[in-house]
Amino acid sequence: MKFTPINSRREAVFDALQQCRSRTLDLFSGIDSETLSCQAHADFSPVGWHLGHIAYTEGYWILERCAGLPPKFPQYHQLFDADGLPKSERQHLPPLEEIRDYVDAVRTEILTYLETAPLEKQERLWQWLIQHESQHSETITLILQLQRASAAELYHPTTNKQSSPLSTEMVKIPAGEFYMGSNEGAQDNERPAHRIHLDTYWIDRYPVTCEQYREFIAAGGYQNRRWWSEEGWQWLQSHPVAQPLYWWNSPDWDQHPVCGVSWYEAQAYARFVGKRLPTEAEWEKAASWDEAAGCKHSYPWGEVPPSAKTCNHDTLVGHTTPANAYPAGQSAYGCYDMLGNVWEWTASWFDGYEGFKRYPYRGYSQVYFDNQHRVLRGGSWATRPWALRASWRNWYYPSVRQILAGFRCVSE
Ligand code: AVJ
Ligand code: FE
Repeated sequence: MKFTPINSRREAVFDALQQCRSRTLDLFSGIDSETLSCQAHADFSPVGWHLGHIAYTEGYWILERCAGLPPKFPQYHQLFDADGLPKSERQHLPPLEEIRDYVDAVRTEILTYLETAPLEKQERLWQWLIQHESQHSETITLILQLQRASAAELYHPTTNKQSSPLSTEMVKIPAGEFYMGSNEGAQDNERPAHRIHLDTYWIDRYPVTCEQYREFIAAGGYQNRRWWSEEGWQWLQSHPVAQPLYWWNSPDWDQHPVCGVSWYEAQAYARFVGKRLPTEAEWEKAASWDEAAGCKHSYPWGEVPPSAKTCNHDTLVGHTTPANAYPAGQSAYGCYDMLGNVWEWTASWFDGYEGFKRYPYRGYSQVYFDNQHRVLRGGSWATRPWALRASWRNWYYPSVRQILAGFRCVSE
């Protein structure tokens, strides 16, 4: 098939679709059938399911809903629709070649349709699809890491020596208004942008490092009820853990951010050091507000999209990096690592901003406005660039520790 760009926006959508896809497919090179279809953890589907679901989703939204075509692969509807089968019943998958054939067949039709699609009316949907694939792509990465972790094959580099300990220095964010959220290229849950006033607070310049967190472990933090909320302590009793999920007792990792903690562990650590977790407004202001210019940036460093210079993302490195490794990625307030490296738990429940309008369907964000999901901000080392910006919101149950999540703290 030959694609002729009709205009530059069409070409931009085409490029993003294909770039995102090639990164997704890279994850499946050399994968065996067991890895493809096994369920690494009850909260996550097999990686092969995610691949099929990506194709199902674009086929449904573009070919069925936009182009009005009849479903071309009805046999995959129940299997790959998010509402089709429970997670525990998604292990009976076709072999990778068959899923690949499906993925490729849907994509070929999508690109043909894109050639003449009324893009003016659909651009938001196309952007949403690219961001949707980005999210599943990160989930695939973390499931593969989880499988390696259980097989004790986790990549363990020893070349990241970073001897000088990072400070627990905090940055002052003076009282004042800022713009939270975004209206452009944003997901439904980031909209609408709105003004918010925050009193003065202090926020950690860096995410909490492994060396800092080790003091909590060494002080018996996991055994001392004092640091834990009622709910957190109950969680700990039913999930007896004593260190983050992704944890190496090696000085090489001392200055890397903690990765693989539940929200409860983050909250307990914050109490241990006499601080608290930031609200998502506090996090976003520190990441994106430029007080001198009186404006909000899309990224901590400004408006230039993420690159290998500004943050650890897109699996360009493949694991965490020391929390001060990207000075070019600092926010205007001087915070490091606000984007990339590890997601950061916030104190906030996931909820719609005032004036929220669901898009493209209720199940994308709105069903999670249930006071049971906590917001994470900032993206990880595995986040694709299309899902990485200061206003981006992620959400999980507070008990989840399989995701690539750490945190930083704030105080008054
Ligand atoms: C927000 C990452 C939990 O993976 O289920 C994917 C994102 N929504 N497809 C998920 C999502 C629809 C969601 N998380
Ligand atoms: Fe999905």
